[in-house]
Amino acid sequence: MQAVLLAGGFGTRLAPLTYTKAKPMLPLLNKPMISYIIEALPKGTEIIVAANYRNEQLEEYFNENGINGRIVKEEKPLGTAGAVKNVEKYIDGTFLVLNSDIISSLNIRKFIQFHMQKKSFATISLWPVENVEEYGVVDIKPDGRIMKFVEKPPRHEAPSNLINAGAYCLDAEVLDYIPPNKFVSMEMEIFPRIIEDGKPFYGFTFDGYWIDVGRHSSYIEATRILLKNLGRKYVVGKSEVRGNLKYSSVGDNCIIDEGSILDSCIIYNDCKIGKNVIMKNCIVAEKCIIGDGAKLKDVVMGEGEEIEASACIEGEKIWSKPLPEGYPEKQIGNPVKR
Ligand code: GTP
Repeated sequence: MQAVLLAGGFGTRLAPLTYTKAKPMLPLLNKPMISYIIEALPKGTEIIVAANYRNEQLEEYFNENGINGRIVKEEKPLGTAGAVKNVEKYIDGTFLVLNSDIISSLNIRKFIQFHMQKKSFATISLWPVENVEEYGVVDIKPDGRIMKFVEKPPRHEAPSNLINAGAYCLDAEVLDYIPPNKFVSMEMEIFPRIIEDGKPFYGFTFDGYWIDVGRHSSYIEATRILLKNLGRKYVVGKSEVRGNLKYSSVGDNCIIDEGSILDSCIIYNDCKIGKNVIMKNCIVAEKCIIGDGAKLKDVVMGEGEEIEASACIEGEKIWSKPLPEGYPEKQIGNPVKR
């Protein structure tokens, strides 16, 4: 089976982290996010990565780690369906499409089996949520057949509490539904059209965990969930930690000095955090410096930024340089974002 990993989004909601790093390369417990998706694939799966911004980082990661995969760069972003159409020439049968920013316990083998048993044309993974009014939910029959999508319904009118969980198993003919060289959304345009045509369209519900690492808060939440799964309070690379860590990860070549307390923080490589720094819910990209005694809450620092000693900052994104070339000023494509 072939798997197309969607890895070309700019991840604007995760800026400034995504100014300098491709979103699938953002570290989760010191490993690129995309590595969790690759590890979940059944052995022998042929990987095709639909990439765009900073695609060279993915190439380097695949090369350095001996991962077999074809990385295809789009000339311009084509959206979640346009990106799949763009790799059509490499697809030769039923195939998977996986968002590379979703961390979940989906059993991909069982997902494929379900698709085959149902003789489905398109199957999507489904995850239950409580706050249906914030999502698109499915109208689904007891046997798993999806009749329609209902966008952000009021709670009492919702046909179910199940949302699209970002993994698809598709018949190759789904590609005929996607126009070439155009920005097209799988969720908004292609799936509704397939259902309208009366093709077998099924949903596969699973349990365990599911997290869309699309925002800073969900990135921190994903770190907590993965730490909990490992039964650990923190993960530290080759770094010197003299302070205290709780539900946090620290990369390589960092110093966290005496008296500092980090709660629910993600620290990338090459960072220096001074003495008696208090941090909660913060994400710090590579090569950042935080001075002694700083107090930070809900702060996200882009690569190479600095915070002076004794600063007290809450709810800010720190980025002092110009927007990198090729990065959009605002979110593009599908406006219905979680
Ligand atoms: P935001 O800008 O924060 O909305 O992030 P995003 O652009 O990554 O969008 P979203 O989170 O909806 O993307 C879901 C998945 O599709 C992610 O794995 C993205 O990398 C991927 N994706 C989104 N748009 C494109 C695209 O135009 N091309 C490709 N190849 N992948 C995309």
